[in-house]
Amino acid sequence: MGINPSFASPDTLDKFYISGRKMWPDLGELQNLKFDRSRVPDEVVQFMRSTSLNEYGVAHYVGSYLRSYHDDFKLRMWSAIWAAEEYVHYLVLRRMLEGLGEPLTDEDFEGLERGDFVTSYSQYFDNILVSPGIDRRMVQLIFGVIQEFSAVIAYTAAAEKCNVPEMEVLFKRIAKDETRHFRFNQVALESLCETCGEENRALIWPQFRAIWGDLQMPQEHIPYFSENAIGTELYTGLWSGELRSRMILRMTQYFKKFRPDKAKPAIAG
Ligand SMILES: [Fe+2]
Ligand SMILES: [Fe+2]
Repeated sequence: MGINPSFASPDTLDKFYISGRKMWPDLGELQNLKFDRSRVPDEVVQFMRSTSLNEYGVAHYVGSYLRSYHDDFKLRMWSAIWAAEEYVHYLVLRRMLEGLGEPLTDEDFEGLERGDFVTSYSQYFDNILVSPGIDRRMVQLIFGVIQEFSAVIAYTAAAEKCNVPEMEVLFKRIAKDETRHFRFNQVALESLCETCGEENRALIWPQFRAIWGDLQMPQEHIPYFSENAIGTELYTGLWSGELRSRMILRMTQYFKKFRPDKAKPAIAG
């Protein structure tokens, strides 16, 4: 492909790289956290173990991003920056767990690291494509919109349920970061759409439906999560009815605009 023709202005995506640098000005503040464990529901602590490991798992996940973005320089750069930002979430959550007296264990890290994510996830990804010719960057970005918004919902739910104001602030700050990630994927997808051609654009809606109908989060492809019952069900288990509705409405309403029948006005007569 050579120089990527898809993102006309360098600022379109670069503003996200810059704004991310302001999110966590001083991680030193997290060194000596102490929380009252008795106030925090067990399900929130379990969720934190799961998501902390999941954020740590970006070292696995970034591989699939780089594969999808193989010759797109800007999006490869995003993958690297994104991975670093998710790793910060791991650091924050790990500190929070330590502050609760519930540290992650050596077994947790080993279980996460030894999971053969690449094979399992690649198969899932290849099987879910609605057309062999679809631009894989688009597929990854559609995934990104869904995954990052579900992260927004998950951390918002944890903030609502944790019962500790200082923890609530940190969960909300992570959720704000996930909102940026969600927006990045939307903006990149829309920007790509400007030059992707009608054929590719017409595949976005069916591709969204295919992913939405068989949504598998990355952690489902690492056995340690299911072996320890800290997988997706736990992740979504905290969501209130209102948050579930927000997830469904936001996603279906957003992707509807890519429906082929919505792209052009109906021909009269
Ligand atoms: Fe994250
Ligand atoms: Fe994220």
